[in-house]
Amino acid sequence: MPDHPDPALLEQLKAHLEYYAESGIDRFDPKAVRGALRLAASVRGEGKSPSRRPQQSEPSAQASLFAESVPESVRDSSLEEVRDDLGDCQRCKLCQDRTHIVFGAGNPQARLVFVGEGPGAEEDRQGLPFVGRAGQLLTRMIEAIQMRRDEVYICNVVKCRPPGNRTPQEDEVTACSPFLERQLAVLQPEVICCLGLTAAQTLLQVRTPIGRLRGKIHSFRGARLVATYHPAYLLRNPPAKREVWEDLKRIRSLLSSS
Ligand code: URA
Repeated sequence: MPDHPDPALLEQLKAHLEYYAESGIDRFDPKAVRGALRLAASVRGEGKSPSRRPQQSEPSAQASLFAESVPESVRDSSLEEVRDDLGDCQRCKLCQDRTHIVFGAGNPQARLVFVGEGPGAEEDRQGLPFVGRAGQLLTRMIEAIQMRRDEVYICNVVKCRPPGNRTPQEDEVTACSPFLERQLAVLQPEVICCLGLTAAQTLLQVRTPIGRLRGKIHSFRGARLVATYHPAYLLRNPPAKREVWEDLKRIRSLLSSS
């Protein structure tokens, strides 16, 4: 251990330990620690990438709202173009109660994109995704896989807050999801992480419960897609953080091996 450890590494270590503590993990298996150190070295390009690739799921058999390749008509050249087209959107009833449209935020070159369900009260107030309590947890989840929030891109299926934070209705998802589709087509991430049922079912076009969608690697137009529990669910149900941690490690490993 060097005399003056890198402050950025210390910050990451702190984020890890906070995340573990919140997940109810208070002791470590030495074998797992050695594995984590090897993974960290490979992320930093100091060694071989881990040889074990996670299990991959069959592509969804169901018909897709999102065709396998990006249609000509949705090939925008920038996120600004998509945002301009969304304009002062009145395409569904969610426009009636919103304060701000929450388009998305983050690095337009991101390798990893998180897709949530729809803005909550704080997001509606600020016009930014995941800035409330669930957002703070999402930030810690990102840091737990040695990434920073400004390295990734974060957006939602619907861009306006559903009243009382209810689940977006089918007509609202139908009106808004072409914009998500266009965002993803511009971003072309390597990995998409769907946070919760709405995002996973919308992108995969299935009705499968989230508990069966998570734990696998799906495909979405050339990207790997990992579905996990929504951070708001984790705030209500902390033991599920263990499974989310498995999903996060899967994401880290996908990014490290490509
Ligand atoms: N929940 C979401 O799904 N998205 C947000 O932006 C905030 C909370």
